[in-house]
Amino acid sequence: MKKITDKFNRPMRDLRISVTDRCNFRCTYCMPKEVYGKAYRFLPREELLSFDEIERITKLFANLGVSKLRITGGEPLVRKNIENLISKLSKINGITDIAMTTNGYLLKEKINILKSSGLNRLTVSLDAIDNATFQKMSDQKFDVNKVLDAIDYANKNGFKQIKINSVVKKETNEHAIIDLITYFKDTENIVRFIEYMDVGNINGWNKEEVLSMKDIINIIENKFELSKLEPNYIGEVANRYRFKNGKGEIGIISSVSKPFCHSCTRSRITMDGKFVTCLFANEGLDLRKPIRDDLTDAEISKIISDAWTIRDDRYSEIRNNLNNTSKKKKIEMFQLGG
Ligand code: GTP
Ligand code: 5AD
Ligand code: SF4
Ligand code: SF4
Repeated sequence: MKKITDKFNRPMRDLRISVTDRCNFRCTYCMPKEVYGKAYRFLPREELLSFDEIERITKLFANLGVSKLRITGGEPLVRKNIENLISKLSKINGITDIAMTTNGYLLKEKINILKSSGLNRLTVSLDAIDNATFQKMSDQKFDVNKVLDAIDYANKNGFKQIKINSVVKKETNEHAIIDLITYFKDTENIVRFIEYMDVGNINGWNKEEVLSMKDIINIIENKFELSKLEPNYIGEVANRYRFKNGKGEIGIISSVSKPFCHSCTRSRITMDGKFVTCLFANEGLDLRKPIRDDLTDAEISKIISDAWTIRDDRYSEIRNNLNNTSKKKKIEMFQLGG
């Protein structure tokens, strides 16, 4: 194995693989209905990487130091037979952890097969536990109880500790902070609140709608006393807290108010095979063409390692010094999976 580092000496440890641009939700901060309505054309199947192509790419990344994988989308569970991909990836040398981020709606019927295929960990995105707010955030008339039931079922069937990711938008779902904590407090699941970010161009991000880590802590501390925990590992994105009274842990992901680029070891692959070195990148490097043109492993591996070696991304740390960031074209969240 040849370990590589970027311009700031950051190794490549994680690979986040987006397996589809489709999703059954239309979260207003990710796929607003005005843009992604019935007429929107998602990528045709032949443009998506096949499972064999993803497996081949992942082997090359593993040879360059990647040990953690995260399967994302869009919504990864809308990709047919996704468990077959997990099964292939779990056999790759050097891969020690495979996680998935899902909105949970199609999760319950897949739990057992995902577990037996080798999925290690689950993250469920959930912005509220009351139907009115859940439906407002996801812009669909779905029942939140289906997601809550899937989480409960997953807890009892191999996924004891699930991370619950909740994007917080000022005034829209602020009240959900206490609701989510109260609901999950006596379980082993970890709720993490994410500052609303300016990913992509279409969500009309406005700084006024961001509830900062400090604001979130203030809301929580009105009800529960917190104490800070040390990170589990260098480069962990969430700031961890525990409750002074009682068990349970929460996290806050402060990409806007307290960025963590200095320790960012994450690489990403879009559903159509673009290699992306930052969540806020303007474009990705095409790996699908070299694969379909039958380049050798060594040649494709060199393309990947050359791109990582010159990587100097630190968008969140320099966000405030950039002019017109909203105008410059960025890759959308549903193509990158967070
Ligand atoms: P594990 O530690 O492996 O459990 O995963 P994680 O804590 O990195 O969690 P996850 O991948 O679910 O990340 C949580 C959220 O943080 C993502 O959905 C993004 O919204 C945000 N996030 C993750 N990685 C980055 C990153 O590199 N940059 C920024 N700005 N945000 C990120
Ligand atoms: N800001 C913060 N988090 C976001 N997510 C999607 N879009 C945004 C955004 N603009 C979250 C989702 C999910 C993960 C993939 O990223 O809720 O948890
Ligand atoms: Fe779908 Fe996740 Fe985007 Fe919501 S945030 S629309 S669940 S991909
Ligand atoms: Fe990594 Fe880019 Fe996020 Fe910074 S902004 S933590 S470099 S993905």
